[in-house]
Amino acid sequence: MTALLEVDRLRIEFPTRRGVLVAVDDISFSIEEGEVLGVVGESGAGKSITGAAVIGLLEPPGRIAQGNIRFEGQQINGLPHEVMRRIRGAKIGAIFQDPLTSLNPLYSIGQQLIETLTTHTDLSPAQARARAVDLLNEVGIPAAERRVESYPHEFSGGMRQRVVIALAICANPRLIIADEPTTALDVSIQAQIIGLLKSLCHEHRTAIMLITHDMGVIAEMSDRVAVMYAGRIAEIGPLRDVVKSPKHPYTVGLMDSIPVVGQEKEQLSHIRGAMPRLQEIPPGCSFHPRCPKAFDRCSGERPDLMPTSHPTQFASCWKFARAVQHG
Ligand SMILES: Nc1ncnc2c1ncn2[C@@H]1O[C@H](COP(=O)(O)OP(=O)(O)OP(=O)(O)O)[C@@H](O)[C@H]1O
Ligand SMILES: [Mg+2]
Repeated sequence: MTALLEVDRLRIEFPTRRGVLVAVDDISFSIEEGEVLGVVGESGAGKSITGAAVIGLLEPPGRIAQGNIRFEGQQINGLPHEVMRRIRGAKIGAIFQDPLTSLNPLYSIGQQLIETLTTHTDLSPAQARARAVDLLNEVGIPAAERRVESYPHEFSGGMRQRVVIALAICANPRLIIADEPTTALDVSIQAQIIGLLKSLCHEHRTAIMLITHDMGVIAEMSDRVAVMYAGRIAEIGPLRDVVKSPKHPYTVGLMDSIPVVGQEKEQLSHIRGAMPRLQEIPPGCSFHPRCPKAFDRCSGERPDLMPTSHPTQFASCWKFARAVQHG
């Protein structure tokens, strides 16, 4: 059976005057129908550009230099802009950190919902208007019948993000790319928005690629987690397993640094150093200079994702190479 989304050996480059920067280097993952894949990692790990590549919004000079992205079994990278725009409205939705990037300040939110609905569904304008009001109710906007006439600036940040969610789900997409959907919101609002996204997507069986550096958000929503480090996937597996029993030494450090209530911890406190800049990614495993478990092979050869002691959990770490050889 093919997955809803299959990313196969994706490589994203930025050509610069001083040479080509490889920002995402040969990553593969998939998302099943209705599944929430959390993508976590430090700033600059490559989370956002991976999401942008999937929805065809990678900005030049960024380019897909290698690999394939398949959605519902069909390759979607390299499609003409117009075709991709249609897929983006109808089949793949997007939610970004700043709701104002998704909303047009010149149109009422009703106009924007109606426009999206009439473009991507068979609804007439009158039906679309009624549906727009329903949608606003569904995402928890009070007095939806009246608020449908309001403009983006008339809403608070949290309410705006609810409108963006209504826009993202209105054509009933199969996948939503949510890039830091709650990062710009007050902490109290964050939980509400996460709760809303979770229940809506569960109801409509919409898959989500949930990009965030916030493990709390990941833990709240994800079925599986991909941990990115310096443009690679360090580890991928079911949420519970990755959190409770991380396999890659980087993930071990990441999980140790999650603040526990009543106990202050600095981020990645016990892993020394920082993620390398793109110009300075070391050969072999890019994490090896910081890795407490590194051995000879780690500096010489780059590990790909391989099975670990846990059957559904994969890590790019030579520690697990033996497990593969001996089955
Ligand atoms: N236009 C560009 N030119 C050169 N490098 C770029 C460009 N856009 C992004 N990058 C690089 O690509 C890498 C990945 O960026 P990306 O935005 O995907 O990171 P991220 O994991 O989403 O980080 P954050 O948590 O800060 O959002 C970074 O090292 C960034 O510097
Ligand atoms: Mg980002």
